[in-house]
Amino acid sequence: MHADPDFVTIVEVAPRDGLQNESTPLPAEIKVELVDRLSAAGCPTIEVTSFVSPKAVPQLADAAQVMAGIRRHAGIRYTVLTPNWRGFEGARDARADGIVVFGAASETFSQKNINCSIAESLARFRPVVTAALESGIAVRGTVSCALGCPYEGVITPEAVADVTRELLEMGCEEISIADTIGVGTMERTRMVMEAVLEVVDAAQVNAHFHDTQGRALDNLEVCLELGIRSIDASAGGVGGCPFAPGATGNVATEAVLAFLESRGFTTGIDRGAVAATGQWLRDQLARR
Ligand code: HMG
Ligand code: MG
Repeated sequence: MHADPDFVTIVEVAPRDGLQNESTPLPAEIKVELVDRLSAAGCPTIEVTSFVSPKAVPQLADAAQVMAGIRRHAGIRYTVLTPNWRGFEGARDARADGIVVFGAASETFSQKNINCSIAESLARFRPVVTAALESGIAVRGTVSCALGCPYEGVITPEAVADVTRELLEMGCEEISIADTIGVGTMERTRMVMEAVLEVVDAAQVNAHFHDTQGRALDNLEVCLELGIRSIDASAGGVGGCPFAPGATGNVATEAVLAFLESRGFTTGIDRGAVAATGQWLRDQLARR
């Protein structure tokens, strides 16, 4: 974590979570330009793409091409999603600075998203995490459906804490707690995050909120109060998960930046540049 308690690390997820739900294929050059614009705006971490089955997420089938095309800035971390060993090999070959193994607190979502149970997914992640750390690649573990599931409804805080503990034990350095479909309330967010903070330090926790019901900023306020200083956001508020019906965009980066600034937090990101990039991205998507 940053030495300054008022510094919040924004993880920009528009190129990955933002685009994965778009059915019309976007050319790799546009994706590269998106990442380059976000780098120029000073985003410290950018989730660039996913090394997943192209049948599962056709939009990100060009992961290697996009990774090869981006202009890397010193000090910026470029990360990718890896569901299995094959995905890890893709990430390593593409010189990703960090990977994300993505699990869930809901059995049904785990099956729909990565075609295996929670226990199977954790067993699959273990060798990937070990190899990544040996290669000097940073590792994040995600817990999806932490605030609710499109298939199972309510998810218990204990279920979220259990997966968190397993991800931590296998070596994940950061745990991303995700409200995949944006159903969290402030009360629920507090309850789940408090359960998570029983097993992991706030410095290692990231908050990933979709803004389906317009409550993401309120929920992030709770996370900040609890000491969490890493937030995922998507320029232009684009995004969603193809395996989570009803999930709309991630909370917009420009909205998170304005919200943080109004509360005295800093991020090192040029808000105007991100807002312009968000508008540019929405124009690109509308054009198709
Ligand atoms: P499977 O069908 O069980 O896997 O899928 P498989 O090993 O049997 O392989 C099936 C086919 O995929 C084979 O190809 C493999 O070669 C290929 P075929 O022989 O049929 O031509 N394959 C791969 N290709 C490229 N890269 C790979 C790879 N692995 C297998 N890594 C699998 C299991 C996990 C692969 C599949 O379900 C998958 O790719 N799922 C990805 C789902 C996904 O990306 N979801 C969105 C991201 S998660 C999210 O959005 C939530 C998040 O934002 C947080 C939140 O909001 O909650 C992170
Ligand atoms: Mg998401």
